[in-house]
Amino acid sequence: MLVAPSILSADFSKLGEEIKSVEKAGADLIHIDVMDGNFVPNITIGACVVKSIRKITHLPFDVHLMIEKPEKHFLSFVEAGADYITVHVEATKTLYRLVDEIKKHCKVGVALNPATPLCSVENILDKIDLLLIMTVEPGYGGQRFIDSMIGKVKKAKEMIKGKDILLAVDGGVNDENAVELKKAGVDLLVAGSYIFKSDDYENAIKKLKI
Ligand code: DX5
Ligand code: ZN
Repeated sequence: MLVAPSILSADFSKLGEEIKSVEKAGADLIHIDVMDGNFVPNITIGACVVKSIRKITHLPFDVHLMIEKPEKHFLSFVEAGADYITVHVEATKTLYRLVDEIKKHCKVGVALNPATPLCSVENILDKIDLLLIMTVEPGYGGQRFIDSMIGKVKKAKEMIKGKDILLAVDGGVNDENAVELKKAGVDLLVAGSYIFKSDDYENAIKKLKI
């Protein structure tokens, strides 16, 4: 099981130290939540922050774009050092082209909101590196995991069988649902508050990996 701490729940007044701490604690990737105040209510991190934290860790950056018209902005995040760019199916009218464009520069992921069906990505499965199933409505850290998403994750696993695609979940992940998620076939857990609100990052990450 891979674990990507979502820095949305980190202490932003010492972001560099927080990232170094989770790297030391066994994180596999750093998950960066980019919000624009349109696709979701909040505004969070821009490309300049990504560029600045790129210098302080060797971990791959998984940039989760929760923004409208991601085709207009993704390149600035590539230039800032993203290793994965994940875009929402709901945020673009031209997903097929967008995925191709992103793939010219880095790995590409697609994310599905809880109510968005899996069939919305079935025609692009040969192009993507990561499939992100949202297990909360995107927009905030610290929300409750939507239990019925376990069934969706199982179906997603079946759908991507035999393909080189990481199956990821994001939202409300903790050491309890991690067990179910592993059984359902998840490869990558994104977790924000569970890790950053704990007082022992290493133990928290270890528990998610078990
Ligand atoms: C939610 C974000 C998540 C969030 C997860 O919109 O995409 O990455 O930070 O935080 P937790 O793990 O606290 O739900
Ligand atoms: Zn996220």
